[in-house]
Amino acid sequence: MTDSQLEHYLGQHCTPPTEVLHDLWRHTWLHAVYPRMAAGPQHGLFLQMICRMLRPASVLEIGTFTGYAAIAMAMASPDQSLITSIEANEEHLSIASRYVAKAGLQHKIQLIHGDAKQVLPALSHRFDLIYLDADKVSYPDYFPQLKRLLSEGGFLLADNVLWGGKVVDPAATDRETEALRLFNKLVRDDSDFEQLILPLHDGLLMARKLS
Ligand SMILES: C[S@@+](CC[C@H](N)C(=O)[O-])C[C@H]1O[C@@H](n2cnc3c(N)ncnc32)[C@H](O)[C@@H]1O
Repeated sequence: MTDSQLEHYLGQHCTPPTEVLHDLWRHTWLHAVYPRMAAGPQHGLFLQMICRMLRPASVLEIGTFTGYAAIAMAMASPDQSLITSIEANEEHLSIASRYVAKAGLQHKIQLIHGDAKQVLPALSHRFDLIYLDADKVSYPDYFPQLKRLLSEGGFLLADNVLWGGKVVDPAATDRETEALRLFNKLVRDDSDFEQLILPLHDGLLMARKLS
């Protein structure tokens, strides 16, 4: 079975994306640099299932890109919830902003333009769900901030934590791999969290803040 056969099969057996998400996915692949960075239908659906289960009042995303995950999560979160998403790149943000408006979700999604390293320390609001999906080298630096910003019982989701399997390859010593190893260890060694790494896509860490 090839990857594209599997992709096709999944597409036929999972709930299809809404029209806006489908258009955004298409637009991203036609116009954005590195379109692979976008969450896309399967990952978006997974985040939506999480939001439907948790019913978060507040969600924080680090790394908006063109807005796929932010819009997907907003669609699946309760009416009064707010999704805050941070993005450093203005071009990505302008696509995201256009599609947030197309989806009629301006009241539920707050897009923040800036570097998460500066933005996170300035936030004071608590979040029920945090989705970390930007700047892999900084994951270990983000961790204390994310812990501070998570509500008790809140969930942290961190994408790409297996980094294509490089975290278990002793020969891999690039900055991203080292940072992701350290991040996975920091979460594991923090007794305020219980955690699981799902070998989904590029590895998704799910951690629940106990206190
Ligand atoms: C993997 S993409 C995010 C994909 C997005 N979550 C989605 O579901 O489509 C990572 C994004 O993080 C942004 N980024 C990288 N470093 C950043 C930083 N330090 N602060 C904020 N955004 C950053 C990049 O510009 C890029 O758009």
